[in-house]
Amino acid sequence: MKLFIPIVIVLSIICFHIQIGTTQSQQSVDPWIFQQRDLLYQNIIDATHIPSLFNADNSNNCLWGLRLQFHWQYNSGRLEATGSNINQQSWWADMNYFLSVIPYLAAMRANLVPQVIITPPSDPMIASKVCTTFETCNSTMMARWYNFFETIVAHQNGSSSTTDSELLEIMWMAHTESIHVALEKFDRELKLFSEKESKFGFGWANFVEVISIVNFNTNFTQVTTLSADLPNRMLKFTDFPPFITNMTKDMNNIVLAIHSIADLAKTPLWNPFLDTLRAICKKPACQTLIDNKIQEFVSHPIPTILDILFNIMSSCSK
Ligand SMILES: *[C@@H]1O[C@H](CO)[C@@H](O)[C@H](O)[C@H]1NC(C)=O
Ligand SMILES: *[C@@H]1O[C@H](CO)[C@@H](O)[C@H](O)[C@H]1NC(C)=O
Ligand SMILES: *[C@@H]1O[C@H](CO)[C@@H](O)[C@H](O)[C@H]1NC(C)=O
Ligand SMILES: *[C@@H]1O[C@H](CO)[C@@H](O)[C@H](O)[C@H]1NC(C)=O
Repeated sequence: MKLFIPIVIVLSIICFHIQIGTTQSQQSVDPWIFQQRDLLYQNIIDATHIPSLFNADNSNNCLWGLRLQFHWQYNSGRLEATGSNINQQSWWADMNYFLSVIPYLAAMRANLVPQVIITPPSDPMIASKVCTTFETCNSTMMARWYNFFETIVAHQNGSSSTTDSELLEIMWMAHTESIHVALEKFDRELKLFSEKESKFGFGWANFVEVISIVNFNTNFTQVTTLSADLPNRMLKFTDFPPFITNMTKDMNNIVLAIHSIADLAKTPLWNPFLDTLRAICKKPACQTLIDNKIQEFVSHPIPTILDILFNIMSSCSK
């Protein structure tokens, strides 16, 4: 009996504490665990559904592209995960942070998704390069993502008549800004890969710039098609496209094409090339022509995508 009272007091203090804990603290999400980062995607895709633009099943939602890329990165070993734990020094995982947590923070600001606390990475080097709150992230990048989610909110409440292609453009402005911010930060991580994989990663970031200019629709169908032909494992020093063993011809072609983009992107010719592409894509007929070529490339990759773009560009500029 003498012991009973202190135990009751201790227990009630503990219970009180737990209750405060569950009612007052927000849920934490650790984006370095595959399933938890994936859940962020599920939340923003569900919350941005506009049935009149994205179909009843949300399959035309352009945010699918981000989630499907993340799945490809995981399945092909690019997140260098141990079980569910993503390697914080994986360049792909670091780049993807800016295309998952960053949009989520902006969607949270627009009150589209549950308010959560993002767990910082345990690796101090990576922690110094990523932000975990809207206020502490690069303001230009956040403004662009916020603009995308605000446009969605306005559409959902009936005060905007943006088309799906306009929304796509707004998404691409935010997407490319995320890549620009992240690409500068993770140069060291990119060089931790084999030379072939580093070149593929760098080429991929620049290929994304090309498809942003043509306003490529990153909906479920288009990115599922693209993902099927992406290299199913990381590239090794001994991989020589188009002769990479255990990869399909399409995968070999994608590697060749992306490597050729990486070669050009390292030269001073790259920015003028992008500027010309931007100018030409202002003509709707040329934009459609180039977008169709990219769509064809995505379903039947060829090693010479740049040559084809150059040809269309020269005939379109006449
Ligand atoms: C995805 O985008 C492409 C190109 O705009 C379009 O043809 C296709 O119908 C879209 N998919 C869905 C499911 O709406
Ligand atoms: C709809 O959303 C926009 C953007 O957030 C906001 O400015 C506007 O006041 C909202 N309108 C209504 C009717 O809720
Ligand atoms: C945001 O990032 C861009 C691109 O890296 C950079 O030019 C700009 O200075 C940054 N802005 C801020 C506020 O840090
Ligand atoms: C190709 O696949 C075979 C059989 O699955 C495997 O033994 C071999 O190590 C693989 N080669 C490469 C280069 O991955």
